[in-house]
Amino acid sequence: PSWQLVLTAAGSGTRLGAGIPKALVEIAGKPLLTWAFERVAGAPGLEKIVVTAPETDLPAFQACLPDNYPHPCTFVAGGDTRAASVQAGLKALKAQLAADHAATSNDHANFDSRVLVHDAARTWCPPEVFATVASSLTDQVRAVIPALPVVDTIKTIRIAEDGEWVETTPARDLLRAVQTPQGFWLNQVLALGQSPEATSASVTDEASLYEAHGIGVKLVAGSPSALKITNPEDLEWLSREIAGNPN
Ligand code: C5P
Repeated sequence: PSWQLVLTAAGSGTRLGAGIPKALVEIAGKPLLTWAFERVAGAPGLEKIVVTAPETDLPAFQACLPDNYPHPCTFVAGGDTRAASVQAGLKALKAQLAADHAATSNDHANFDSRVLVHDAARTWCPPEVFATVASSLTDQVRAVIPALPVVDTIKTIRIAEDGEWVETTPARDLLRAVQTPQGFWLNQVLALGQSPEATSASVTDEASLYEAHGIGVKLVAGSPSALKITNPEDLEWLSREIAGNPN
């Protein structure tokens, strides 16, 4: 099936300590964002891309798009939080699809599209993961996220004046570490973004909005290569991955 992509790249990358936005940090001679564009280009079914970028750096982000890139790509200013950036990207995408639809059809019935929301920081996510997420969305399956089993024992904690204390130990075989791309139907993820739950601080991804509304979220297999580039060591890991997979 065909799908659209919102690529979030409006974060500051403070933890990376590079002093420039994470997406502009160079690995093997190219910015992370350029690698992300190249990696996703061949994913089957991809149509349009909307990138969320820091408002003050839009030209530098636009310059990361490879020449003769095979997909139409636009750049919009992100917001203060990831959730706000994603909604700005989704709205821009909806406006573009509505314009395309009006140009090609007299039928003004509602139309919808699959949309995948992906963090540019998960630069090396394999194209197959995008394809699996997109094709798992159906009329019944409204939200799909890639995930990996966890290898560490995870504790929930209580934060007290004298430090942190263990509260519980959830059964590890029922825990998953979730990644992006997260797949949705565009009209529904836009609508849920307007709901009161959307402003809650505990909503760190769009899938949480579906959970808050009691809508099922399906898991598919993620990939270790979809690691989120966060700390300086992750850049070293990425340069080794790139060296092992020359384009
Ligand atoms: O900060 P965090 O690691 O959760 O960011 C995840 C992704 O969301 C990154 O790709 C980042 O660029 C993006 N982001 C954004 N707008 C923000 C904050 C983060 O697009 N205001």
